[in-house]
Amino acid sequence: MPTSPGPAPDLIAPALLAWYDRHHRDLPWRVPPGRIARGERPDPYRVWLSEIMLQQTTVAAVKPYFARFVELWPDVGALAAAETDAVMKAWAGLGYYSRARNLKACAETVLAGHGGRFPDTEDGLRGLPGIGAYTAAAIAAIAFGRSSAVVDGNVERVVARLHAIETPLPEAKRRIRALVEAMVPAGRPGDFAQAMMDLGATICTPRRPACALCPLREPCLAVRMGDPERLPVKAVKPDKPRREGAAFVALRADGAVLLRKRPDKGLLAGMAEPPGTQWSARQDGGTDADDAPFPAGWRFRGRVRHVFTHFELDLSVYRADHVDLEPPPGWWWSTEFRREALPTVMRKAVEAALDAIPHKGQRKHPA
Ligand code: ADE
Repeated sequence: MPTSPGPAPDLIAPALLAWYDRHHRDLPWRVPPGRIARGERPDPYRVWLSEIMLQQTTVAAVKPYFARFVELWPDVGALAAAETDAVMKAWAGLGYYSRARNLKACAETVLAGHGGRFPDTEDGLRGLPGIGAYTAAAIAAIAFGRSSAVVDGNVERVVARLHAIETPLPEAKRRIRALVEAMVPAGRPGDFAQAMMDLGATICTPRRPACALCPLREPCLAVRMGDPERLPVKAVKPDKPRREGAAFVALRADGAVLLRKRPDKGLLAGMAEPPGTQWSARQDGGTDADDAPFPAGWRFRGRVRHVFTHFELDLSVYRADHVDLEPPPGWWWSTEFRREALPTVMRKAVEAALDAIPHKGQRKHPA
């Protein structure tokens, strides 16, 4: 426990909002503070879409996906009417594919059950597919001006430092939430939430925080104690298990790639993949050329590693050329694999097989 009393909650928001007015990030789903002050409201559809995309993913990674989605589906009605496969294709590469399924289900629910308008309270929003406690709070605050406490990983870091909380995460979560609740200003809860996120992303960073530039430097107990980077304390996580498997990239004479659809349930449900062995979070799949689903001139092309939430996967990649095969049901020859709903791990596998140079900006992704 800190020996000195924590910063007074009502002093935090004014300092933070004054900083946000000058230094907020311009983001495509945001209405900047000057326009909010003139009474403009963000579009709940854009706020919702961005919050779902930003779960587990960075702002930089989300921007091009967000732009594509609002171009293809400018409002919730358009998304509700979209083909699920088209949504999955547009989502491919963002990871955690159940989010894309829930996105579509949520759009349909808003259209059919709420007359095309998002509920404007945290409780109402929580009843929708894919919207958990954090997302409901974020949408309620940002789109509807509700005084919700919005607590993501960035905010936890800021508050753990501000109050020099030594209890490790996740144990400290409840205390941090209570502290944020006490800080939310009645007047500008949406700007406050986004200011906290921006501070965490640009100043109060996990490593080498820029304390000299921080609007909360004065009240921050971690700064006073001299080593803000040490906080928040994290409970030691056990290592992830490492699993193995294989992917078999068959090429037709014209360069088309043989793909199939994954089962509708489970990891990467309904996404496309080259045929492969049956690995999962709990068991390895085969890794030899003999494990291929059909005989061909398979050549080993290397391994790709991918980090999922609960395990790491080493996928051995094989390639065969001039394959002439009538695809069984659920399989197809793809002449444009980059346009398919390939999850990142499978995109990496196909690219390794083709020896293609990865796209510039390709990121490490959890799924
Ligand atoms: N991360 C999650 N939601 C965000 C938002 N609205 N702005 C910036 N970063 C975010």
